[in-house]
Amino acid sequence: MALITTVEDLRILAKQRVPRMFYDYADAGSWTESTYRANETDFASIKFRQRVAVNLENRSLRSTMVGQEVAMPVALAPTGLTGMQRADGEILAARAAEKFGVPFTLSTMSICSIEDVAAHTSKPFWFQLYVMKDRAFIERLIERARAAKCSALVLTLDLQVLGQRHKDLRNGMTAPPKLTVANILNLMTRPRWCMGMLATQRRGFGNIVGHASDVSDLSSLSAWTSQQFDPALSWDDVEWIKRRWGGKLIIKGIMDPEDARLAANSGADALIVSNHGGRQLDGAQSSIAALPAIVDAVGSRIEVHMDGGVRSGQDVIRALALGARGVYIGRPFLYGLGALGERGVSKCLDIIRNELDLTMAFCGLRDVQDVDGRILLR
Ligand SMILES: Cc1cc2nc3c(=O)[nH]c(=O)nc-3n(C[C@H](O)[C@H](O)[C@H](O)COP(=O)(O)O)c2cc1C
Repeated sequence: MALITTVEDLRILAKQRVPRMFYDYADAGSWTESTYRANETDFASIKFRQRVAVNLENRSLRSTMVGQEVAMPVALAPTGLTGMQRADGEILAARAAEKFGVPFTLSTMSICSIEDVAAHTSKPFWFQLYVMKDRAFIERLIERARAAKCSALVLTLDLQVLGQRHKDLRNGMTAPPKLTVANILNLMTRPRWCMGMLATQRRGFGNIVGHASDVSDLSSLSAWTSQQFDPALSWDDVEWIKRRWGGKLIIKGIMDPEDARLAANSGADALIVSNHGGRQLDGAQSSIAALPAIVDAVGSRIEVHMDGGVRSGQDVIRALALGARGVYIGRPFLYGLGALGERGVSKCLDIIRNELDLTMAFCGLRDVQDVDGRILLR
């Protein structure tokens, strides 16, 4: 196996090891993928000021996100179907995050359930909530997250309707995969993945099967989920969820300063500037381009986090310099997981930590908490 030194190396290996349907599910944006691409490319135009002959001993990347200590200000983003990139994927990623000292966020649409991840980890993780029409189900999910001692709730607001991803339609994406001839041929070239899947029982949506009424098998499950995302979701629902949860609340999917004000007014602890990794509104600006105006609008009232297109420690520090308190990585950790399982997620975090640490040093700083706009050329 070739030496792995970048997130891109992990992506290439994941592409070889993960069945096409699930690799494509991760590595895709909606429609023309213009927002997906902009998320990455807009980072490259942000340039640093190099400083020299500054004491760079004893550097620190430690920080906090919503008041919780983090080894570096990078969390794992919630991603659906993570357990299809690799058998038991959510448990493996949560363990890697726990060992590293950064938050892992479990998606509502995960394969491993809340209880399952809690049973295989020892520190609290975060839980991401989608608002479904079945509010009784939402109440139970919140209760389950509380019982599992999740230390923050990430409430995603940008998926009332679904962006179209052509590749998923073409591949007939389902979990577990539909056994068409094309899929079987592709699975035969991924023996490692298949063996992992045969050895685990975790192959459906763990948070939903057995918990939502009327969901007993795969076909009733997909029918249920496709009509459960709530197009009528409003800020009143955010209020209601905040009251029911009572703990740290992070609002995900904010791209507009006006919505950022509403998020700050809601009393949430943080918001995430996010376009869902370019998977929803194609033609939206990149998250990193949207960040400064949102920091200007609400940065003094609420913690501002961001995600979308972060592929290196250099990108992390760019986002921090533009006012983010922390960032999330989605695809980078999925690539690590698909490539090498838990070890690959750890590798991804190590790569980013090393890049972040050295870039901070080149910019003449020793403490990540001192990073601000002064390290950038404007
Ligand atoms: C495969 C995949 C599945 C995702 N599933 C969810 C999800 O279930 N809930 C959610 O809030 N966001 C979801 N997202 C969005 C991520 O949380 C995050 O916003 C995005 O991946 C960040 O961009 P990046 O992948 O470029 O780092 C998903 C993203 C990907 C790539």
